[in-house]
Amino acid sequence: MQSSARNAPEPALTVLLTADQIRDRVRELATDINRAYPAGRRLHLVSVLKGGFIFLADLVRALNRQVTIDFVAVSSYGPGTHSSGEVKLVKDLEIGIEDRDVLLVEDIVDTGQTLAWLRTALRARHPRSLCVVSLLDKPSRRIVEVDVEHVGFTIEDRFVVGYGLDCAEQYRHLPYVAVLDQRVEDPGERGPDASNGDLEER
Ligand code: IMP
Repeated sequence: MQSSARNAPEPALTVLLTADQIRDRVRELATDINRAYPAGRRLHLVSVLKGGFIFLADLVRALNRQVTIDFVAVSSYGPGTHSSGEVKLVKDLEIGIEDRDVLLVEDIVDTGQTLAWLRTALRARHPRSLCVVSLLDKPSRRIVEVDVEHVGFTIEDRFVVGYGLDCAEQYRHLPYVAVLDQRVEDPGERGPDASNGDLEER
């Protein structure tokens, strides 16, 4: 009873993906990834902060194998609600990736600019392989073509929060993914957390 009260959506939110749907899909993704990297391959997961932290935590447990983990954080400048595509590394990796099988763990691919930049930056460090798993994908928003080898859910062009994703640093804790009511906050085209035109941390 208590847990259902905790899982009840907040008034401004419409649940898009329930905690159960996410859990089931994460398990399927883990199966696909385990198949793609046979047991002898040492998998190195790189999570993109902050939005990917819950996905990483669930994915790594569903993978149920020895992996190593590292984090990067990126920011981008965007005037108004538009991301300029000018991405900056604000937290670098702590572990070198040369000759490693790297799996980049993303929360969501939107315009593709962040991921395209990250792919190029990581490739330059000569990993043995580089693939991407993203919980969510909004292909209709794409500006830059970019490969995403494993996608959890393809969604419409809606601003979503929860399960690690935020709006102005809120809602990350929610166990589900929800569409934020645009009347509550005016996110403009890209989303509420991008509306200040300043350096925007993901
Ligand atoms: P891209 O460079 O446009 O693909 O932006 C990707 C980043 O934008 C993600 O890692 C998120 O931090 C953020 N983002 C894009 N769409 C959403 C959304 O619907 N909710 C929350 N964050 C989003």
